[in-house]
Amino acid sequence: MTEIDPALVHLVSRHGERTTQTPVSALFLNRWSARAMTGEPIPEKLLFCLLEAARHAPSAFNAQPWRFVYARKGEPAFDALLGALNDSNRVWAGNASALILVASKAEFTPAGQAAVTLGSASFDAGAAWAHLALQASLLGWTTRAMAGFDAGKARAAVKAPENLKLEVVIAVGRRGDAASLPPEKQALEKPNARRPLELTAFSGAFPDEV
Ligand SMILES: Cc1cc2nc3c(=O)[nH]c(=O)nc-3n(C[C@H](O)[C@H](O)[C@H](O)COP(=O)(O)O)c2cc1C
Repeated sequence: MTEIDPALVHLVSRHGERTTQTPVSALFLNRWSARAMTGEPIPEKLLFCLLEAARHAPSAFNAQPWRFVYARKGEPAFDALLGALNDSNRVWAGNASALILVASKAEFTPAGQAAVTLGSASFDAGAAWAHLALQASLLGWTTRAMAGFDAGKARAAVKAPENLKLEVVIAVGRRGDAASLPPEKQALEKPNARRPLELTAFSGAFPDEV
């Protein structure tokens, strides 16, 4: 491995319950998706900081196919988005400080070229979500993405046009007390594990079974 300048990045092999096979920046081990949140107000500047981090994600053609609708707790759109979540998400996400719907737009017209349909719009929206989540973690906030929602209800809630694919709703908040969660979710309120890297990344070609 090329030498890494330790002044640039602090690599760790363990953070809390998470361990790595090769040291990585603490940034990646520090982030995990809590459900228990305090529901405290989120400063507008912080919310925009998260969206700004997402804005700087990479994307095919630099098309930036991600689109967001954000709503802070107490605003009508927050309740509307909350109402679109499935039961298992709604029981805890009401204590988020903000909900952010992430959508992607596959239609794109590169400068001076014919319109294309991006095959990577969802992939790129996922990169934007990862930027947002890591920025939140760096600032001491937690995020949890949720695909468990009713797309029709969410579309109506935020007036999403049909050409947008609704990807996830993100709950953003400060970590709260696990005791606020339904009993079956309390034990899950900690960083979880990962598949071994050997089952995920392969040198040169895939094995017979992936
Ligand atoms: C696209 C996507 C959809 C998810 N949907 C849900 C969901 O509906 N409800 C939920 O509680 N967690 C959901 N999660 C959270 C994952 O379960 C969580 O990210 C995963 O277990 C890894 O844990 P970590 O984020 O703490 O590292 C989702 C995550 C992603 C990225």
